[in-house]
Amino acid sequence: MDTIVERIKKLKREKNAVILAHCYQPVEIDLVADYVGDSLYLSQVAAKTDAEIIVFAGVFFMAQTAKILSPNKKVLLPQIHAGCRMADMIDYKQLLEFKSKHAGIPVVCYVNSTAEVKSECDMCCTSSNAVKIVKSLNAPKILFLPDTYLGKWVEKQLGNVEVITYPGFCPTHLHIRPEDITNARKQHPEALVLAHPECHNSVSQMADYVGSTTGIMKFAKESSNKSFIIATEQGVVDRLKRDYPEKEFIPVKDNIICPNMKMTSLEDVLQVLENENNEINVDAEIAKKAVKCIDRMLEASK
Ligand code: 13P
Ligand code: SF4
Repeated sequence: MDTIVERIKKLKREKNAVILAHCYQPVEIDLVADYVGDSLYLSQVAAKTDAEIIVFAGVFFMAQTAKILSPNKKVLLPQIHAGCRMADMIDYKQLLEFKSKHAGIPVVCYVNSTAEVKSECDMCCTSSNAVKIVKSLNAPKILFLPDTYLGKWVEKQLGNVEVITYPGFCPTHLHIRPEDITNARKQHPEALVLAHPECHNSVSQMADYVGSTTGIMKFAKESSNKSFIIATEQGVVDRLKRDYPEKEFIPVKDNIICPNMKMTSLEDVLQVLENENNEINVDAEIAKKAVKCIDRMLEASK
């Protein structure tokens, strides 16, 4: 009898499907994934794949972004209820209110947002290119949503742009407190602290490196240091331990887990490939507007 991994691989070949997995997914998803990485990398892959079916092992906004970029492909989300608590913090109406309070200022949305929200923003960004994107707009003031901490971190990096942020946040990253960094450093004084910019700014400013999930993995790979305290979701720690067993990776604290990212199982991936259900579709008018802000980001990230 074929194993579940073999069955998924066979179906992928038969159906010309590709599997994209975010670094926060359960680590066993990598056994069947064709591409594993951060939000920017996966959206770049989704935009240019030749596959007929994209299975997005991630959360709703990621599959929605893939569908907007590849409207003629079938995009499947293994767990249809895997949302993003940060993306849910701003809807279309709240966006319009936020914009009307600050009329005339360019709007940058984090990719962790709905298609409707993206359709009314000037430019999209991810955690790996947020500084570059805000800078590219060449404006003295920017509206940034929904992640207030990423927005304020960008403001600090640039120094000459006022970033007006919407009060959204990632509940998973907000579990990390400055005292967790202090305690971890006390126990592991030789370790470097690597943090995701979704962390509270008081945490990011204590880190030796701040970057996206892929950025953190790349830094750990290339650094001559042997020990690292990881201030982001557990999936990154699991992959680092697997890929670099000669180095030491310490989670900043236990249970830094995104419940939505951890919903996906290999059984779910098999199930959507077999049945082609959980298809993600985006209203054509919304997609037509939303694609502009995503395309501008991809263009500026080349
Ligand atoms: P990146 O993929 O840009 O590192 O962002 C992390 C995240 O929270 C995705 O939801
Ligand atoms: Fe959303 Fe935070 Fe989960 Fe990322 S880690 S998907 S931002 S809730």
